[in-house]
Amino acid sequence: MEPLANLNGEILPLAEVKIPALDRGFLFGDAIYEVLRVYHGRPWLEEDHFRRLAHSLASIRVGGVDVERLRRRMHETIAAGPFDEALVYIQITRGAAPLRTHALPAGVTPLELLYVQEFHDPYTEGRRDGVAVLCQPDLRWDRCDIKSTNLLANVLALQAAKEVGCVEALLYLPDGTLTEGSHTSFFGVLHGRVLTAPNSNAILPGITRSLVLRLAARTGIPVREHVLKRTDLSEVSELFLTGTTSEVLPVVRVDERPIADGRPGPIARRLQEAYSETVREFVG
Ligand code: PDD
Repeated sequence: MEPLANLNGEILPLAEVKIPALDRGFLFGDAIYEVLRVYHGRPWLEEDHFRRLAHSLASIRVGGVDVERLRRRMHETIAAGPFDEALVYIQITRGAAPLRTHALPAGVTPLELLYVQEFHDPYTEGRRDGVAVLCQPDLRWDRCDIKSTNLLANVLALQAAKEVGCVEALLYLPDGTLTEGSHTSFFGVLHGRVLTAPNSNAILPGITRSLVLRLAARTGIPVREHVLKRTDLSEVSELFLTGTTSEVLPVVRVDERPIADGRPGPIARRLQEAYSETVREFVG
């Protein structure tokens, strides 16, 4: 099925969407976005995604977006497919002003685009066997908690990883602090303790990360929100990524070095099972 878009309330094929050249999302990256997974026709963790969308909008000072209306549009567009296993991409830009000036324009209407696309899971094998990641310097700005469309640093870091056969880049700051993946959050098991970077302006508050924290608590796996350093990677017994599309993805190799015995570890496995179980309950 072809991807279906909803542009400012109008449903149309994604291929037919036209965005004004003066749109500030295009000119300045003056925009925010969200990505949701749809399981069996139902958007997953919808409340959390729309709460984060509202946070991103407020953080970049875009007003006048009716988030509830946006949610209704999302449901209409999923139903119009109808889509079963899918992804929803939502992007709100500040809109198009008559003149290209950096300062925020007055009286501009935000552009509200979403589209729904069939999802063909690329991670089935990776979830079973584990994946490789490459460490890359984190060259992003200081407000990575905002889900902004300014993703050039993420794009280039992931490309470097892909070019050496890795599925993700793990980003580190100049002091060696590991922040997150280019499009995923991460967890590590160091000396028997499960750790994940604390939420801050240095990372996106991952919705899957937050669900995995709740699942871990329910499963009796204590997790500490604590910084991991690049130097810790030689000592971790497990590492795994979390994200909307990757779910819980075990990492078995970092920078060419195997983690433990090079196979997914027991904690990642238990959390994968808990995750799948929650999705099964959700789809009913
Ligand atoms: N990426 N960190 C970054 C930088 C991300 O872009 C994402 C999501 C995550 C994981 O967040 P969540 O669990 O809420 O998906 C962490 C989306 C899927 C993307 O850019 O396509």
